[in-house]
Amino acid sequence: MQKLLINGKKELSGKISISGSKNATLPILAATILSDQVKLKNIPLVKDIFTMVELLKFIGLKVNVLKKKNIIIIQNLDKNIKTLAPYRLVKTMRAGVLVLGSLLTKYKKAKISLPGGCAIGTRPVNLHLFALKKLGAKIKIKNGYIIAEAKNGLKGANITFPSISVGATENAILAAFSANGKTVLRNCAIEPEIKDLIKFLNLLGGKIKTQGRKFEIYGCTKVKKNISHEVIFDRIELGTYMIAAALVGKKITFNKINSRVIQNEINILKKMGVKLKSHKSSIEILKSDNIKKINISTKPYPNFPTDLQAQLMVLMTRAHGTSKIKESIFENRFMHVPELKRMGANIEIKNKTAIIKGPSKLSGAEVMATDLRASVSLVLAGLVAENRTIINRIYHLDRGYEFLEKKLKNCKARIKRI
Ligand code: EPZ
Repeated sequence: MQKLLINGKKELSGKISISGSKNATLPILAATILSDQVKLKNIPLVKDIFTMVELLKFIGLKVNVLKKKNIIIIQNLDKNIKTLAPYRLVKTMRAGVLVLGSLLTKYKKAKISLPGGCAIGTRPVNLHLFALKKLGAKIKIKNGYIIAEAKNGLKGANITFPSISVGATENAILAAFSANGKTVLRNCAIEPEIKDLIKFLNLLGGKIKTQGRKFEIYGCTKVKKNISHEVIFDRIELGTYMIAAALVGKKITFNKINSRVIQNEINILKKMGVKLKSHKSSIEILKSDNIKKINISTKPYPNFPTDLQAQLMVLMTRAHGTSKIKESIFENRFMHVPELKRMGANIEIKNKTAIIKGPSKLSGAEVMATDLRASVSLVLAGLVAENRTIINRIYHLDRGYEFLEKKLKNCKARIKRI
C-alpha cells in the first residue's frame, strides 16, 4: 500500500495547473453511449475515469485514451452492445449508475448493479429511479441489480425532483435525451459539471434549455458525428489548492480557470482574511497571516460545496476563534475529524456540525485516509503541520486528484509517495 510522506511548514510559491473536472467527465463519458464518434479533451487521468472507461468498453464502445494529451476518443459502432453495468465495475465507482439513463433511452433496456453506499453515506438512487419511472421506464430491483426497460421507448414527462440531486438530475437528462417528446425537469441540481454535460449533449444534437433549476429537453433522434468537447476545469481541485495556498502559501497563481464559477468560495475565503486577487481566468493567493473564523453550511451549488468541507475545516483550525461547518448533504462526511484531532486540531461534532476552535498548532502524525476529500484534507494538514505526516491508503486520493504530489512539489512542497 502506497503512502504519502509530507514534511510540513514549508512555504509554497509558484503556479498550480488545474486539471479537467472528474465530476463533469464521468456523466459526459456516460453520455458518449448516445454518440457516434466523440473526442473529449482536458480529461483528468484519475482512477475513477479509468473505471468508467472500463465500463464503457464492457458495454461495447471503442475507447482510446491518449494519456500524453489528456484526450479520450470514443466510438459507438452499435455492435454487440451489452446493456449491463456489472457489480465489479459499479461497486468502486458509483457514478457507473449514470449509464442507466443513456442505455435506457437508446437501447430501451438496462441492467445496472445497484451502487452500494460508500464511506460518506448510504448514497441511495431512489431519485434516479423516480425520474426514470416518470419517463415511462418499468423498473424492478433483483439480486442487487436495477432492471429497467421501456419497450416502446421513453416518453417525455413533467418531473419535479422532491430534493436536489446531482446524479439523479444527470440520469434524468440522459434518459430524456432520446425520449419521445418534451421533458421538463424542475428543482434540478445546477452544478457547473451539469452545465458542461448539457453543453456536450447540445453539441451532440440535443436541444436542452435551462432556466435556473428548470430544464427543458426535447427528444433527439439524430446525433451529430465527430464532435469534440473540452471538459470544464475541476473547481473542487482548484478550491482545494486555494485552501493549501491560504494555509502555507507565499504566492500561488492559478491560470486557465473561470473565477465566476467559484465566486462563492472566493467570497468566503476573502471573508476569512485570505489575501486573494481574482481575475476572469486566473486567481492569485498571497501569504495570509490573520485567518478569521466563519460559520458555513454545505449546500447544493451555487452554495458552499460539500466536496470542499473537509478542506475548509483545515483552514478553520488556523482561524482565530470558533468556526462552525454544518454538513447538510451527506450523513457521514466527518471521518477526517478524528485524524485532524490526532494532529492537534480542536474540533467537536454536535449533530452534523463541526465546531473548530483555533488557532491550533498542528503536528505531524501517521494518519489514515478514508474517502477522497477527507484524504486531501489530511494532505493540507500535513503541509501546515510541524514535522512529518504519513498518510496511509492514498488510493482514495488517486481517485480524484491528478498528479497531486507533482503539482505541490512544483511549488516547493516537501511531499513524496513511498
Ligand atoms: C455528486 O454525487 C458528486 N459525485 C459528489 O462528489 C458530490 O459530493 C455530490 O454530487 C454533491 O455535490 C459525482 O458527481 C460523480 P447527490 P451524487 O445525488 O450525485 C441524496 C466527490 O468527492 N440522494 O447530489 O451521488 C444523497 O444521499 C463526490 O467527487 C438521495 O437521497 O450526489 C445525498 O444526501 C463525493 N437519493 C444528497 O441527495 C438519490 O437518489 C445529494 O446527493 C440521490 C441522492
